[in-house]
Amino acid sequence: MSNIAVVGMQWGDEGKGKVTDLLTPAFDIVARYQGGNNAGHTVFVKGKKIVLHLIPSGILHENKLCIIGNGVVVNPRAFLEEVEQLERLGIKVDNNIVISKNAQLILPYHSSIEEITEKIRGDKKIGTTCKGIGPSYVDKTARQGIKTGDLLNEDVLRSKVEQNVKLKNIILAHFQSPLFEAEEIIKECLYYRDRIGKYLQDVSCLLEKKIGEGKSILFEGAQGTLLDIDHGTYPYVTSSNSTSGGVCTGLGVSPDKIDHVIGIAKAYTTRVGSGPFPTEISGSAGKHLQKKGDEFGATTGRPRRCGWIDTFALKYAARINGIKKVVLTKPDVLDELEEIKIGIGYSYKDSSLDCFPTESWVLEDVKPEYKTIKGWKKSIHRIKDGRSLPESFLDYVKIIEDLIQAEVVMISTGAEREDTVFFKDKMNEFIDLNKITDRPDIPGINNAS
Ligand code: IMP
Repeated sequence: MSNIAVVGMQWGDEGKGKVTDLLTPAFDIVARYQGGNNAGHTVFVKGKKIVLHLIPSGILHENKLCIIGNGVVVNPRAFLEEVEQLERLGIKVDNNIVISKNAQLILPYHSSIEEITEKIRGDKKIGTTCKGIGPSYVDKTARQGIKTGDLLNEDVLRSKVEQNVKLKNIILAHFQSPLFEAEEIIKECLYYRDRIGKYLQDVSCLLEKKIGEGKSILFEGAQGTLLDIDHGTYPYVTSSNSTSGGVCTGLGVSPDKIDHVIGIAKAYTTRVGSGPFPTEISGSAGKHLQKKGDEFGATTGRPRRCGWIDTFALKYAARINGIKKVVLTKPDVLDELEEIKIGIGYSYKDSSLDCFPTESWVLEDVKPEYKTIKGWKKSIHRIKDGRSLPESFLDYVKIIEDLIQAEVVMISTGAEREDTVFFKDKMNEFIDLNKITDRPDIPGINNAS
């Protein structure tokens, strides 16, 4: 049985939540390797929207082990709120969640520092989620971060919190922001220790053991390739490696444990927050996609900027991640369009570029090159059988496949899990489709409906 990584190919919000939920029954373990509660993985169950920010969406299935790796930054308060939300839905979490002892904590001062930093950036602000993600990773790389495992040693915890609060208060005082009391933070941490201590383990060691037992893993990415700290559109990125390389560093597994990387790409492009976006559509056409695609951030509610599909960026994402198989999501949002543009490349200072540029100042100045095709002008919404898809839509899919040099193996035509077309012959190589069964009912949702 293969282990697969599910990775976003754009600026996040490609529909990874639905795909992960759909594929989970074929795996034993779902493991997250980076990011934090900045992510919003949306899953629709019987018309009810469930948004998970930190806990892998595999938790909606019975007996799937859900792992939060060392590459994730954990806000314990957000984690406990999510556990409560799941328990209200009648989902038992205690035996199914493990958090790495090496994951970094997000503590209250991180969001305060982030708010100040964004304010100082002025019109160059990144437009972060202000969840304290960046500042927690800053502490990690500055080697002053506090790990979840530190909660288990009160002396170590105390000394680290005191040092951190001292440092943060210097900055906060300078900007006349409320200061923090080390004792208060320590008290809060001890409360977390009593509630999340039971979830903490050595994840690398656990995964090695599970792989040895023949268990299969779905590695769940958050955000998307173009938000990767190293390979994205820096500085308008998140603070972790959202690309497939992050699986190894973020969970402590070796590269040979990733058998396939599945890329998720939306049939158009969206972006939340600031930063260059070459194929962005201004005016009413962009607004149409935003409205029809319900493009509002799952974490912050902010409207997402919308644009045409950008195969130049997708080809780059395929290369960086090692993607040969793609899941195309939300093409039904384009159903009514007379014409559809497909971004195929960029020119910069009158020459065509060979490679996707990651310098923001270059990306801000590129001119996108397009291929324009006629729209299919038929509803493909909620189609489940590939034979019902219009020829002209399949032509559009073929153009994209050729441009990005990867094949489309699944198409999502609606929010619910059954609104999916599987190209089974293209999937057998990496997944046992017989195992893709329905998700078990979620008690809280059945009662409500
Ligand atoms: P941060 O991750 O909160 O530091 O935000 C950095 C950038 O990544 C901002 O532009 C955010 O809007 C964006 N971002 C972070 N998480 C997500 C996500 O899950 N989907 C889409 N954009 C995201």
